[in-house]
Amino acid sequence: MENIIEVKNLEKGYKDKKAVKGISFDVRKGEVLGFLGPNGAGKSTTINILATALKADGGQIKFNGQNVKENTLYVKKNIGIVPQDLAIYEDISAERNVKFFASLYGIKGEKLKEKVKEALQFVGLYDRKNDKPKTFSGGMKRRLNIACAIAHNPKLIIMDEPTVGIDPQSRNHILNSIKNLQKGGATIIYTTHYMEEVEEISDRIIIMDHGTIIAEGTKEKLKENIQDEKVYVIETDNAEKLSDDDFFEVEGVKKVTILKNRVEITCLNTVENLDKLIMTMMNKHCKINNVTTNSASLERVFLNLTGRSLRD
Ligand SMILES: Nc1ncnc2c1ncn2[C@@H]1O[C@H](COP(=O)(O)OP(=O)(O)OP(=O)(O)O)[C@@H](O)[C@H]1O
Ligand SMILES: [Mg+2]
Repeated sequence: MENIIEVKNLEKGYKDKKAVKGISFDVRKGEVLGFLGPNGAGKSTTINILATALKADGGQIKFNGQNVKENTLYVKKNIGIVPQDLAIYEDISAERNVKFFASLYGIKGEKLKEKVKEALQFVGLYDRKNDKPKTFSGGMKRRLNIACAIAHNPKLIIMDEPTVGIDPQSRNHILNSIKNLQKGGATIIYTTHYMEEVEEISDRIIIMDHGTIIAEGTKEKLKENIQDEKVYVIETDNAEKLSDDDFFEVEGVKKVTILKNRVEITCLNTVENLDKLIMTMMNKHCKINNVTTNSASLERVFLNLTGRSLRD
């Protein structure tokens, strides 16, 4: 498949802090790329450099085969960025907000009117076009933020946590919008802290941590590494009575995490040992409240790789 973005050895530091440490990756034309990582991983820094809002210290980026440094204007015209922090004017109408951003790309007159209408309809805010964002809910502001970024029909749309702190209805609206943008031929880079969103919409995933890329591939490929494991989550009132060693005596146990009200035990998929694990706990007079089994999930892939959960 053709690449819309090719990044080589990208570097960026802030004073004494290296935020991006020489990363290389490609973005394929027409895909939704999930861009994940714990807080401070370097996602926004990378994304803002791609969108030409921030200057890199080193490395090379190509957009549609053209060097971004030498063709900044072309790149700006063809990329839309939905920033992590809302970039809308609270005191002018929704319509004038979108008009303002679209006009920055040189769109004028009837075409401008038409594009603004399309963008507002797309995010479901056309009937509120005359209202000011200060009267909007958080989710509506997020949707307006998206309208401002897409009115000029960019080929690549970069969204930095567009669904933070919003209601489920707006979230669904945004996720459906992303699917529709993709159907319309756009490429989307998507950052989020919600794993279920990534499961739903991403074709491919890049996981960043501490300024480097630590994993890359399709969901299926990333899950392969943990396919031979299962995790039992056993809820109990008094896990403090237990020690790791109690469980390691049971066949097939690979890892044990004892938390206040539950134990998480990673086991080989091929060994049937749940009865023995429960017996171990009952022998220590632990009351079993619930047992769930987690098979390979992206959340677990992420946890395995970064040692942290995506939503920490
Ligand atoms: N303007 C800045 N000045 C100084 N340091 C910064 C600045 N912006 C980011 N950093 C630092 O660079 C690192 C990467 O930050 P970045 O915002 O790219 O992370 P992120 O992956 O987007 O995190 P989050 O999930 O919290 O949005 C962090 O350690 C952050 O503190
Ligand atoms: Mg960020």
